[in-house]
Amino acid sequence: MRKPIIAGNWKLNKNPKETAEFVAGIKGKLADATKVEAVIGAPAVDLQTLIDAAKGTDLKVASENNYFEDAGAFTGETSPKVLAEMGVNYGIIGHSERREYFHETDEDINKKAHALFKNGVTPIICCGETLETRKAGKVDEWVSGQIKAALKGLSAEQVASAVIAYEPIWAIGTGETATPEQAQEVCHLIRETVAGLYDQTTAENVRIQYGGSMKPANVKELMAQPDIDGGLVGGASLQPESFLELVHYQD
Ligand code: 13P
Repeated sequence: MRKPIIAGNWKLNKNPKETAEFVAGIKGKLADATKVEAVIGAPAVDLQTLIDAAKGTDLKVASENNYFEDAGAFTGETSPKVLAEMGVNYGIIGHSERREYFHETDEDINKKAHALFKNGVTPIICCGETLETRKAGKVDEWVSGQIKAALKGLSAEQVASAVIAYEPIWAIGTGETATPEQAQEVCHLIRETVAGLYDQTTAENVRIQYGGSMKPANVKELMAQPDIDGGLVGGASLQPESFLELVHYQD
């Protein structure tokens, strides 16, 4: 059975003080960790504070980006090796904002996935289409292409342990959520793509999140879909109250 995983993605929000305040606000209130995994992805400058504050809780920590080299002359980059040493559990990679504003390619994302696995950090690999691609009827082709490129060269065992986040770009930060049926359809397609690339067992183990205006009001119906195993949440993860409501969606 796949354990549901609700992950916040704070994007470029919060400073260390606000990070510590957030953790103080959720301490002792998270859902049963045997039933749902709770993760916060924070800016690199907040990660140490987040890790320290989360000690003794079941909260897991994610980075929002990393470089694919561990060390060297790469000014301004974030080492996956150091993220692992710090105790970061997950690494969000290939977010549509990274692809759009920082020109990340499928090849970069694949290298980042390899670098995270090499260091023992589990990637959360993002994919998703624009409204234009959806209107052109090319969602399947686009998303399966992103997945094939991102997973290139990874072992079945690695993929089985990974998380894939389906985030339709038109639903991010817009308040417009994909319907549960739309989200399910693409999450199912992603699982089928993994089955085709690897095998049924790998496909049944990989966890697939939906992201795009997930909030307390729609989390239940999204999570009820058979191929949706979690959420990657922007806006609704910023306040302890709404994050707690999301992780308690089963209660
Ligand atoms: P919102 O939940 O704010 O739409 O953001 C989704 C997202 O991009 C998470 O990575």
